[in-house]
Amino acid sequence: MIEILSPAEVAKARISGALVADILQAMKERSTVGTNLLDIDRWTKEMILAAGAESCYVDYAPSFGRGPFGHYICTGVNDAVLHGLPHDYALADGDLLTLDLAVSKDGIAADSAISFVVGDAARPEGTAMIEATELALAAGIAAAVPGARIGDLSHAIGSVLTEAGYPVNVEFGGHGIGSTMHQDPHVPNLGRPGRGYELRPGLLLALEPWVMADTAKLVTDPDGWTLRSATGSLTAHSEHTIAITETGAEILTVPSRSQAG
Ligand code: MF3
Ligand code: CO
Repeated sequence: MIEILSPAEVAKARISGALVADILQAMKERSTVGTNLLDIDRWTKEMILAAGAESCYVDYAPSFGRGPFGHYICTGVNDAVLHGLPHDYALADGDLLTLDLAVSKDGIAADSAISFVVGDAARPEGTAMIEATELALAAGIAAAVPGARIGDLSHAIGSVLTEAGYPVNVEFGGHGIGSTMHQDPHVPNLGRPGRGYELRPGLLLALEPWVMADTAKLVTDPDGWTLRSATGSLTAHSEHTIAITETGAEILTVPSRSQAG
């Protein structure tokens, strides 16, 4: 089912989106050398509850994971790219960390992910991958105008990733979002222009380009959740929730201090 939100619901999504962005920003600031992934998870839980919001993850039990996720944020280090289950690990200088968070407030969900390097021992290849996913995300958002089709967004995202030299995996991509986190339409990170569902105002999409340095193949950790690069190579992921408006797209997962300005 594809949900089209009313303006009042989009206003709620704006609040959920700002909350997600604020928490991600706070967690990025606290992700210093020595920080434990379980602390990031606990701080995230505290911020979600303090805001009167609900986690979209803690009870989530989709077919692609094992049982309820049981945590509040996805943490992926280096070769871990999607659905990273927080575990007892202290961040090291130069780790490439991906944080992915979705919360629901007042019945509307928002979803966003960021990748960044911890400390200052950044590897150039890691910085380049992060940039490629951010540029691909920007290209997808720019293509998200009313009347465009999902294939146009997929093509815009996929072209940036492919031209940057990364293989693209199509098992996991972006998605519709609204009263629940994962909805139709699916937004693959590769596609053909002119194909698929036609965008209209009130549609919310989570666009999420992600890459692995040298492969499109994922392997699952023994934890049943964490998806890693099959070759152990570095990975990166960038995600925003956007609302299709009459004229284009509004990014909803932006920090509260940059909204209502
Ligand atoms: N937010 C992720 C996505 O980008 C989904 C994470 S599901 C979880 O679609 F259960 F692993 F948390
Ligand atoms: Co998502």
